[in-house]
Amino acid sequence: MSDHIHPIFERLVSRSEKENFLNHKTAVFWFTGLSGSGKSTIAEAVERELFNAGHLVQVLDGDNIRTGICNNLSFSLEDRKENIRRISEVSKLMINAGVTCINSFVSPTNEIRAYARSIIGEQDFHLIHVKASVETCEKRDVKGLYAKARAGIIKGFTGIDSPFDEPDKVNLILDTEAETKEESVIKAVDYIKQHI
Ligand code: ADX
Repeated sequence: MSDHIHPIFERLVSRSEKENFLNHKTAVFWFTGLSGSGKSTIAEAVERELFNAGHLVQVLDGDNIRTGICNNLSFSLEDRKENIRRISEVSKLMINAGVTCINSFVSPTNEIRAYARSIIGEQDFHLIHVKASVETCEKRDVKGLYAKARAGIIKGFTGIDSPFDEPDKVNLILDTEAETKEESVIKAVDYIKQHI
């Protein structure tokens, strides 16, 4: 850190004061998974359920973030890492403000996920794998991106010609091939409620 920067974190209203004010704790619940695995669909429903139950929550989603704070980034592994760094820093600000974060990002490698964990902090980081095979996601192809990746129109597409590591240090798996959307949402909400 530069000698000319003097953070004032400790003089501000503390996170625990805000948590007391809101009557719940905060943390980051980080959904990792292939494009088309169901991350965003589940995240949206989970946000609504938690909000209806009186929690202050915010979904951060890849496609949204990449139209704003990360709109200058590509899908190279280096830019994905920068994408995840910015999101992790934003998430830290969010939880300090008392907001529970539901993050929905491909976050394709264990290195990138570990980076997010290191920025956010072990205590506040929960990794949820929204799991479906490439074959299934390609069959679903909700956004038509797998077809474009196969045709070579999109290069470096996760699962096709860019890696997706089987996530390690996972707190919860939502298997969207075996579970209905409703079952996955209930599992996620139950898990989150136990940790906030
Ligand atoms: S991450 O790898 O940096 O974590 P992020 O979650 O922000 O990715 O964005 C992924 C979304 O961008 C996908 O859901 C998809 O809609 C879109 N996308 C566009 N190009 C790619 C690509 N090459 N690889 C993966 N997703 C892509």
